[in-house]
Amino acid sequence: MSFTETKSLLKIAKQGKRVFDVLKIRDDFPILHRTVNGKPLVYLDNAATTQKPKAVIDSITNYYTYENANIHRGLHFLSEVATEAFEGARLIVKEFINAMSASEIVFVKGATEAINLIANTMCRSDIFKSGDEIIISQMEHHANIVPWQINFQKKNIKLKVIPITDEGELDLDAYRNLFTERTKLVSIVHTSNSLGTVNPIKEIIEIAHKEGVQVLVDGSQAVPHRKVDVQDLDCDYFVFSGHKLFGPTGIGVLYGKTKYLEKLPPYQGGGDMIRTVSFEKSTFDDIPHKFEAGTPNIEGGIALGVAINYLNEFNFGDITSHEQSLLDYATSELLKINGLRIIGTSPNKASVISFVIDGIHPYDIGTIIDTDGIALRTGHHCTQPIMQRYNLPATARASFAFYNTLEEVDKLIAGLNKVIKMFS
Ligand code: ALA
Repeated sequence: MSFTETKSLLKIAKQGKRVFDVLKIRDDFPILHRTVNGKPLVYLDNAATTQKPKAVIDSITNYYTYENANIHRGLHFLSEVATEAFEGARLIVKEFINAMSASEIVFVKGATEAINLIANTMCRSDIFKSGDEIIISQMEHHANIVPWQINFQKKNIKLKVIPITDEGELDLDAYRNLFTERTKLVSIVHTSNSLGTVNPIKEIIEIAHKEGVQVLVDGSQAVPHRKVDVQDLDCDYFVFSGHKLFGPTGIGVLYGKTKYLEKLPPYQGGGDMIRTVSFEKSTFDDIPHKFEAGTPNIEGGIALGVAINYLNEFNFGDITSHEQSLLDYATSELLKINGLRIIGTSPNKASVISFVIDGIHPYDIGTIIDTDGIALRTGHHCTQPIMQRYNLPATARASFAFYNTLEEVDKLIAGLNKVIKMFS
């Protein structure tokens, strides 16, 4: 491959936007042209992870081929190049979610680590006192339940849970009634990975702020589907994973308002997060470095920046409206199938459809349809409380990205009809 300066890949694009042409977009994603079980791949598991455009894949090879060095440490040429690229990526993330400052962007492994970081540091600080409460919802991913439980073992803190309706929406009246003078935080999903529901997140934040309570938003399933502006939302923390945003695994983002991040203690100790170290005492660097101990995922941060720059080539509205067409068409076609029930029927959904079919276990649906090259996810989707809410062991889930097509929806429907035929 020929050498490309990473920093040129990470310039914030100012050029006009690309015309939305799904076939041209598919050409940017090499994996979409492979076959599976002798059939063209129909990848409908984007809520689990998205595929990567060639620009992202190439940026990783390019970085290791020409620019690899540790960052923030050396004065030598490569170290400066790598540092500039990594910090350039941070700036791209800052612009992407419209944070006030790049120092509000902490690179972490993913949304899971971001929530663990907040749960751990809040519980170690004096923000939470014994008897305090946090509010989450019944539609949270395990990553927004278990970190709280683990860290609450150290203090007597209670989790209160917003119930969901039969349609898969949050019960906002119940939410309003959960606040007490002990409520310290609302930690809530923007868009459900299982139900597809897009929560009225701005209203949820406003309600919490009126009560004087901070809000953490799990935006993992929001950022691939719609434009997010953290200042407009006025959320206090916002987390997402790079791999669900067409970037690599092992990199994600914790955004936090400066005034809150500055008050939290460090998460992990090690190199690159300190100002001074002696055997008696250490002092810590400013945000975001205070939270980034050790050598970070340098190529992951860079490649996430490249993924966001790739998305920036489009009008986000075009992405959202294409996905809405996929959602509308797939919903109406799925509902024509006898015995099929969609779990999560809010009118406000991202392109995620969970469903069950009478008399057929979701695992059988997933396994059989895979023989036609169609990738669905089946299981509890890391949201066991949702399965308990609907009294289901599992669902099958089709989740669409902006590179999916209406023809792929037709293949899904044909595949499901074939599964049903096998069981009849
Ligand atoms: N949380 C991911 C999903 O929804 C893995 O599939």
